[in-house]
This record gives sequence, structure tokens and C-alpha cells, in this order.
Amino acid sequence: MIQKASLRLLQRPAMPTTILSSSIYRNTSLVSDIEDAGKSTTELDGPLLMNILVKFFHAYVYPGSHEREISLEEVSVLFDQFVHRRLGSDVLEGCLDVRKDLLSYGFALCMLADLPKSAHIFKVIAEGKTKFGGDVFTGLDIGSGTGILMLAMSVLAKRNGFSGVSLVGIERNQIVAERTNDILSRMGLGNVIVADAKKKDTYGFLEDKKLHYITNETLPSVNRSLWKEDFIFICKTLHEGFYSQTEGADFFPQSVLVGRSQTEMLTVLDSSNGFQLKGDAYPLRLMKPYAINMSGSMTPLESIGHAYEKYIPDTWSKVLTRRW
Ligand SMILES: C[S@@+](CC[C@H](N)C(=O)[O-])C[C@H]1O[C@@H](n2cnc3c(N)ncnc32)[C@H](O)[C@@H]1O
Repeated sequence: MIQKASLRLLQRPAMPTTILSSSIYRNTSLVSDIEDAGKSTTELDGPLLMNILVKFFHAYVYPGSHEREISLEEVSVLFDQFVHRRLGSDVLEGCLDVRKDLLSYGFALCMLADLPKSAHIFKVIAEGKTKFGGDVFTGLDIGSGTGILMLAMSVLAKRNGFSGVSLVGIERNQIVAERTNDILSRMGLGNVIVADAKKKDTYGFLEDKKLHYITNETLPSVNRSLWKEDFIFICKTLHEGFYSQTEGADFFPQSVLVGRSQTEMLTVLDSSNGFQLKGDAYPLRLMKPYAINMSGSMTPLESIGHAYEKYIPDTWSKVLTRRW
């Protein structure tokens, strides 16, 4: 009895507001928002980006929901369940299956759920201009997680007039890769393979295809050395083993500012140097990333997404997870 009563006290009530304001929410499907975003005349503003992100989040947990209209209440309950997935919560009472899914894919959903950063990155990719044309846009997403950057590439392809897209994601976490593969196949966007992107063998599928765009979001977070994540090692594999397939590609990030400290040996890594240091005076792996190029301006890692924070109610900003 006492135990039950104390558990009851730990139970979180439902969040007091919806995840987005009703004034920016569109009662439409993800498919319809994506179609709108794919028109080169549509401005990819904060409200549209937020709609795409929260509906993609819903489709990730409820495969197939991308085709139907999703209400703001549905999407808000799901985010509430997500942020309380490890706790007692009124909105998770009797919802064992959804709690299980949120725990299984939680690691990837945490990144997508950083809505301000996700929106900023999505916009930078989706508004890109490809360096060369063709009928089919070919893109590679390294460390694909939920696959949201593949969705951003598909919007970029539409906005650049391609009639088809061929996207491949590489993700080393098997549970996440399988789910993302399922979601992206249902949306007709591409496939995700379970593999280590540092290994040359992983890229057999490239054959002699020329890539239009490569997203590689495997950088370490603020104040961590480059060796903590695989970004520079993956770039080395691509540059040394697949130059002809990647030389015409645009990259996200387009360039990265790294240094021994915030003031020492600051160097810009980009595709012209294969995201590698020229000399060997100091090992790149011991350096830290400080900023990445976002739509032409070198932006400190901690400032990415700031302009989109205003779309998230304060009560939610405090509980939503961070990308990196
Ligand atoms: C910051 S997250 C990127 C999230 C993804 N872009 C998204 O928005 O959902 C980095 C992802 O890269 C994956 N990853 C890191 N190193 C990898 C490697 N060597 N090969 C394949 N995947 C890797 C991680 O498992 C993680 O899912």
C-alpha cells in the first residue's frame, strides 16, 4: 500500500502545453509538408521545419503515420511519453508497447528531439544547390540515426529539380538502422545498411556512382577531442578510397573549424583537404571541433539551432534532449 502510494507520488503528470504552439501547427500529413518543402518557391521557415520534424518523429514511432493527418495533441502526447520513457508518467499508463519502442530507439530519437538544432541542420541541407545535375540525385548519410538528414536530402533533391532520389544511410547501431530502413523504405526514400563507416568494405554499394551529397554527422560534441568519434577517420576512408565518387559532392558539414585550443592552431577542414590536416606537426585526433559552416557562416557548435529555440515552449525546452 505504502509502496503503491509512493510510486503514485513519483508519477509525472501530463505536460501542461503542446510541443508546438497551435498557431504554427499544420493539421496536415508529413507527406504533404514534405511535398510543400520540396517546391523551390516555398520558404523553409521555422514553422514548416518544426512541423516536418515532429511528424517525422511520430512516423518513426508509428510506421506508416507519415501518410495521414496528425493532430498536435497526438504528436504532443508522443513527445511527452518520450521525455518520460524511463519514468512513471500519466501519459504512459498502460502503454507498454510504446514505452518499449521509445526505449529501444531512444538513443536516435534523442538527436531528432533536439528540435532547434535539427531544424537548423535540416534547413542548411535542404536549401543546398547541387554542383551537377542528372535525373537521379544520389546521397549518402553517414551515421544516419533516425534518417532525418536523408529526408532533408530528399527535399534538397526536389528543390533542385531531380526526378528521383537514391539515398543510402550507414548506421552501426543495428536496432536503429533496421527501424530507419523500414521507415525510409516506406517513404520511398532509400535504404540504411548496418555497417561501420570507417571501413573501406562498407562502401561496395557505391561502385562508380558519383555522389551529389554526403552528410556525415559523426563529429564529437563541444569540448571533446576528435578521436572520441569517428568523423575524421570516416573522412579519411572516403578521401583515400573513394575520391572519384565523392569529388563532386557537397558535404554536411561543408567545413569544420578545429584547433588545439580555441586560439591555437585553428584550421579549417573541408573536402579540398579531405577533412584532414596537411602536415603532421600535430595529430588531428588530439584537436577539438569548435564550429561548422552553416549556410556560409562558421557557426560555433553551441550556437547551432539558436534561432529556432523560440518555437519551443519553455516547459518543453527544459525536458527535450540535446543532439550533441
Ligand atoms: C550525432 S548522431 C547522427 C544522427 C542522425 N544524423 C540523425 O539526425 O538522426 C551519430 C550517429 O552516427 C552513428 N555512428 C557513429 N560512428 C559510426 C560509424 N563509424 N559507422 C556507422 N555509424 C556511426 C551513431 O551510431 C549515431 O547514430
